[in-house]
Amino acid sequence: MSLPAWLTERLGLRLLHLADPERAHALSLAALKSGLAPMPLLVTSPRLATALAGLTLPNPIGLAAGYDKNATAIGPLSRAGFGFIEVGAATPLPQPGNPKPRMFRLTEDRAAINRFGFNNDGMEAIATRLAARPRTQVPVGLNLGANKTSDNRAADFAHVLAICGPHIDFATVNVSSPNTENLRDLQGPAALAALLAGVMETRAALARPIPIFLKISPDLTNDELALLAETALAANIDAVIATNTTLSRTGLKSRHAREQGGLSGAPLFEASTRILARLSQLTNGKLPLIGTGGISTADQAYAKIRAGASAVQLYTAMVYQGLSVASRIAKGLDLLLEKDGYSNVTEAIGTDRSRWL
Ligand SMILES: Cc1cc2nc3c(=O)[nH]c(=O)nc-3n(C[C@H](O)[C@H](O)[C@H](O)COP(=O)(O)O)c2cc1C
Repeated sequence: MSLPAWLTERLGLRLLHLADPERAHALSLAALKSGLAPMPLLVTSPRLATALAGLTLPNPIGLAAGYDKNATAIGPLSRAGFGFIEVGAATPLPQPGNPKPRMFRLTEDRAAINRFGFNNDGMEAIATRLAARPRTQVPVGLNLGANKTSDNRAADFAHVLAICGPHIDFATVNVSSPNTENLRDLQGPAALAALLAGVMETRAALARPIPIFLKISPDLTNDELALLAETALAANIDAVIATNTTLSRTGLKSRHAREQGGLSGAPLFEASTRILARLSQLTNGKLPLIGTGGISTADQAYAKIRAGASAVQLYTAMVYQGLSVASRIAKGLDLLLEKDGYSNVTEAIGTDRSRWL
């Protein structure tokens, strides 16, 4: 007799949470690749199906960067219920990242702190995997990063795009990770404009130009955000992901609260949604936005969409709810849209933005 899928997942999560978080992460990826994890397959409906910067999404719930850093589980992840997935971050050269331990579960806060520091196999190995990836029914993107020891970090982003671009559906410029010293300085207007110009030039040279997204920090001030919005619009990028993890530690209960690194999960929800709503106001529909940070329910995914997001992404909720969270949220969102009389998710974008301003 086999156990029902929900029970298998709950028991699996119990076991994973006995392990060190980085080990648990590796085990969950291994389970995924071995086919042990139950798969809900594609989740879609006429209400959920949407377009994002020219990409066709079966549903607007995406997997955020950092779970599959080395692009080793694209096949199974594409069947996990997500409407799009982002792998990476990839840097030009392989690098080990920061010393362990570098990931912490803040269970009481439904949160995580990580300071991985772009540990990855490097763009060549990742490009080889991406080239060999199975055909998927959902778009697959790559998070672009810079090497810690690079003497031209801005050029690293374009370099990874040039090598991996032919094998992906979108790429994200990640200048918002708090775990590579001074990386966030690249969000300043002059540095960002130059970096994005290089990336857009590289994109234009690809045989199949793909949409370019920019991922931003939740810790930007209003003035910084306004400048960033101007720079992003001027650069003609295709979407902004708001947001990455935060350096804030407000209101945490867990004993790991003082660990260095980026905080993700429930405590990030409000701050990242406020940044999203402000950016939506600043860009006034001219730039699609992807809402990321602290989503663990369909209501929260819906709140991000109504704050101005065209689509959303999540990561930390999987640590606490398992992979089934993607399909649960997608199906729940479908019901919420139906209840409010929308025939497609695009009609709900930004309808409750003022609540967050
Ligand atoms: C362990 C871990 C690793 C991450 N690695 C990356 C990364 O390489 N690149 C990136 O842009 N974001 C990375 N993130 C940030 C997530 O993509 C996401 O923006 C953030 O966690 C907020 O979403 P969440 O609250 O749903 O987790 C990482 C997050 C976690 C928890």
